[in-house]
Amino acid sequence: MNDLNTSLLVNCLILCNGIQYKDTMIIFVGLIQKCMKHVAVIGAGTMGNGIAHVFAQFGHQVNIIDISQPALDKAIATISKNLDRQVSKGALTEAEKEATLANLTTHTDMKSGVEGVSLVVEAATENVNLKLKIFKELDALTDPSVILATNTSSISITQIASVTGRPDKVIGMHFMNPVPVMKLVEIIRGYSTSDEVTNTIMDMSKKLNKVPVEVNDYPGFVANRILMPMINEAIYTLYEGVAGVAEIDTVMKLGMAHPMGPLQLADFIGLDVCLAILRVLHDGFGNPKYAPCPLLVNMVMAGKKGVKSGEGFYTWTHGTKELIVAENFNK
Ligand SMILES: NC(=O)c1ccc[n+]([C@@H]2O[C@H](COP(=O)([O-])OP(=O)(O)OC[C@H]3O[C@@H](n4cnc5c(N)ncnc54)[C@H](O)[C@@H]3O)[C@@H](O)[C@H]2O)c1
Repeated sequence: MNDLNTSLLVNCLILCNGIQYKDTMIIFVGLIQKCMKHVAVIGAGTMGNGIAHVFAQFGHQVNIIDISQPALDKAIATISKNLDRQVSKGALTEAEKEATLANLTTHTDMKSGVEGVSLVVEAATENVNLKLKIFKELDALTDPSVILATNTSSISITQIASVTGRPDKVIGMHFMNPVPVMKLVEIIRGYSTSDEVTNTIMDMSKKLNKVPVEVNDYPGFVANRILMPMINEAIYTLYEGVAGVAEIDTVMKLGMAHPMGPLQLADFIGLDVCLAILRVLHDGFGNPKYAPCPLLVNMVMAGKKGVKSGEGFYTWTHGTKELIVAENFNK
């Protein structure tokens, strides 16, 4: 618990002096629960806005932190639009939507953004040096009791934990995209993550109405170790001219009963994110089978990152409902 919360507790106990012991304990426990309900989410992109949405919907006060004010504005607009969709489907009431939005605040300054929180979930860009820098900063800015979680898709939790003075309190909390819809949270234990912290995060994930699965810290964990080689192979299949974009995705959708094809999924995840994960697998295992396809590397260098940039294997400038193969693959 940080200094602010400790002093709140002390004040609370002083105020409670003279009240029944039972009442004191109720106030005490309530205050601890309130403290546990304040979280910070770092990064307001594809994943950060979804993570903030879910925490806020389940009653947590959420500070969203990003270096970019436009990214923060876009995140609030996206959350609002997604909440409207939940209301129109009858999954939420208008009052619950308003309460969710009221739980959100945005910050461009890390120091004010992490003040008073008991959990930080980092969902900034997938880049190892950036994550190490952020965790060093978090370690300096937050009370040692604060749990530091990362939504990284592939970067070692143990490496991230090693730059902090609290490796037992660093853990992977890998949500899936789109966060408000997908049930799974892959909970990754670093080499030193404690049982207590793992249990706290497993319980918290269940309270967010998710299904947490505990895994160990090796490159790509479970989800991306299996998914990314499939996406990479689909890109190689396209690169080698075996079939076109629509044909590859149709084979996998109708033949394997996947809800969407691997190339469409890559566009949704972000081609830069897919490339970064493949590089982690390639470096981590030293096995050439994980080498990213040159076509994927070229597309990322050309700024074609999928849905977030408006073009990848498909064009997305018209929205995400209709599948239109990108002009480059339609010649
Ligand atoms: N996209 C997916 O489907 C997916 C799924 C699971 C996990 N992830 C992981 O989630 C994380 C975020 O991915 P994303 O797809 O949301 O990326 P994104 O590119 O959509 O968003 C990243 C955000 O981080 C912000 N950022 C960069 N540096 C920052 C800093 N120093 N402080 C605060 N904010 C900063 C950027 O401004 C941007 O808004 C990555 O680690 C990624 O591997 C992504």
